[in-house]
Amino acid sequence: MTGLVQGCISGKLLAGKIAGDNLLVPVSDFETKNGKDVYFKKYIVVQNDILQYPVCIYRFNEMEYTALWMRCTHQGTELQVFGDRLQCPAHGSEFNSNGKVRSGPADKDLRTFPVVVSSNELFIDLRKQS
Ligand code: FES
Repeated sequence: MTGLVQGCISGKLLAGKIAGDNLLVPVSDFETKNGKDVYFKKYIVVQNDILQYPVCIYRFNEMEYTALWMRCTHQGTELQVFGDRLQCPAHGSEFNSNGKVRSGPADKDLRTFPVVVSSNELFIDLRKQS
């Protein structure tokens, strides 16, 4: 169990910048290099002092991302990421990388935010729900 918990976030927790109502994340935060080859991480977790919960951002391709509020919709516990799913340590609810409930007791999807990609940066609008 401990191994799983450490494995889920290690090296992927990043500090996001807040500008106005947006959380700004450089696309390069997804890059990981191996020699000359550049790979992209499937997801990153962004935390910022003014955010009550972290935001998990999944990258599907160059232009397609989802930004998920890591707050369980059951009773508000902070979720943990395991590959392409998020799991709640309190009572075991699971959500997919689009924020949809896969198993309860939670019965509502996660809050998601619109993501706009521009000039190699992601603008995540924290006011809106996508
Ligand atoms: S608070 Fe997440 S399953 Fe209960």
